[in-house]
Amino acid sequence: TFVVTENCIQCKYTDCVEVCPVDCFYEGPNFLVIHPDECIDCALCEPECPAEAIFSEDELPDGQEAFIEINAEMAEVWPNIAERKDPLPDAEEWDGKPGKLEKLER
Ligand code: SF4
Ligand code: F3S
Repeated sequence: TFVVTENCIQCKYTDCVEVCPVDCFYEGPNFLVIHPDECIDCALCEPECPAEAIFSEDELPDGQEAFIEINAEMAEVWPNIAERKDPLPDAEEWDGKPGKLEKLER
């Protein structure tokens, strides 16, 4: 399965949701997640993210392991999103900033 990781927080560009053939993205206030049971591992979303926040579970960067559980948990709670929308207003400013996990709104 593919996983949305920390750099999506406070950016939420949403380019990823347009390409997903099974519409398995779910949207929170400042982050998106992938439903691990619905993702078919097509890899189409990975190159679409301007923040490079999407990785295969097998190739997660060090320190991003917590996002496996966060994706699984929040995909059960948040509503589905299948159409692109505007990024969050300060997306460019937040892109690449470390320590965004503490900003995650649930
Ligand atoms: Fe959707 Fe494919 Fe990305 Fe999985 S890997 S979330 S199925 S676009
Ligand atoms: Fe987030 Fe990247 Fe999608 S910033 S909303 S994972 S395009």
